[in-house]
Amino acid sequence: MTTALTTSLTMNPLVDRFGRTIEYLRLSVTDRCDLRCAYCIPEGFKDFEEPEHWLNFDELERLLGLFASLGMKRVRLTGGEPLLRRNVVDLCGRIAALPGIEDLSLSSNATQLAKMAGDLKQAGVTRLNISLDSLRPEVVEKINGRPVLDQVLDGLETARAVGFAPIKVNMVVMQENADDIDTMVAYCMERGFVLRLIELMPMGETARRMGYVDLQPVIARLRQRFGLVDTLMPRGGGPARYLGTPDGRFTVGFITPISQHFCETCNRVRLTVDGVLHLCLGQEERMDFRVLMRAGASDADLVDAIHRAIDMKPERHEFREQPQKLVRFMSMTGG
Ligand code: GTP
Ligand code: 5AD
Ligand code: SF4
Repeated sequence: MTTALTTSLTMNPLVDRFGRTIEYLRLSVTDRCDLRCAYCIPEGFKDFEEPEHWLNFDELERLLGLFASLGMKRVRLTGGEPLLRRNVVDLCGRIAALPGIEDLSLSSNATQLAKMAGDLKQAGVTRLNISLDSLRPEVVEKINGRPVLDQVLDGLETARAVGFAPIKVNMVVMQENADDIDTMVAYCMERGFVLRLIELMPMGETARRMGYVDLQPVIARLRQRFGLVDTLMPRGGGPARYLGTPDGRFTVGFITPISQHFCETCNRVRLTVDGVLHLCLGQEERMDFRVLMRAGASDADLVDAIHRAIDMKPERHEFREQPQKLVRFMSMTGG
């Protein structure tokens, strides 16, 4: 990229029509997964993206470099399960090396983490968010579709041993695991993990059928039971609100897209494995960068397209008002 172009780009950060600065890119590197969490990707699902549509690492490095030159500071790898993408560690190294990227993180189900944690850390991944919905093996098998509890716990222990901090444990709360919240608190407290309780979003038909658990009463109960106070999470760019013990030793986050949405502070967009930029998790606005890049778009063309895309970012989702609207499964957009 020429210096003139670089200079003009950095002077032109990504601010949307609602005054929100967009600085966090969630990159889905695959839409495949080795689990079948019903709220994300149902059993028997077949509508996967064709490999020739996947952006390759050179394409990703080019596009993310342009985003970074416009002020995108944080990148999170998601999926599907990001650790299933071949050579994903190399990709992490390339993204971490891009000028302007200050925070490279990854959301994973941890089934592959025990063997990859050390390499990921070395490649420059600084933060991990790991899905774990219960500590009861039969509940994990039921919700997540495979008997993987031991594998996941192993992955978490290895991540801790190689020095990842913070490690956040994501628990989507449903009827099936609502009784597990206190054991999850105890587990995370003991190990220094940040627990995050999440309201299920109606992404796709199965998730819609499952229904969500309103976390507001849970917040009130935990506040009282553990004497929790409002706190801020250093080094996090996401939508969670946090409470912690006064001594700072335990933090729990709440992600409440249904009972209390957080769209007014949204700072993110999502790029799917096939190079489509989704402007909101719960809406359809999008821009196809694969088609542009493969048709020979210049850097200036792509920068222009990025600005046009950000201009299309909707104000908020409508999960509550129109839960039937979103037919896309979570695994397609990235969690
Ligand atoms: P941090 O940077 O660590 O704060 O990450 P994060 O909480 O944004 O990421 P993670 O991948 O762990 O996501 C946790 C939950 O938040 C998942 O259920 C996501 O689907 C949900 N989530 C993340 N970003 C958004 C968003 O922009 N909108 C909505 N509605 N949900 C989101
Ligand atoms: N609603 C809320 N969270 C979801 N996740 C996946 N599908 C859903 C859904 N329908 C969560 C996963 C993972 C994170 C990236 O997204 O549990 O931790
Ligand atoms: Fe942003 Fe859309 Fe998520 Fe709301 S639902 S926080 S607008 S991506």
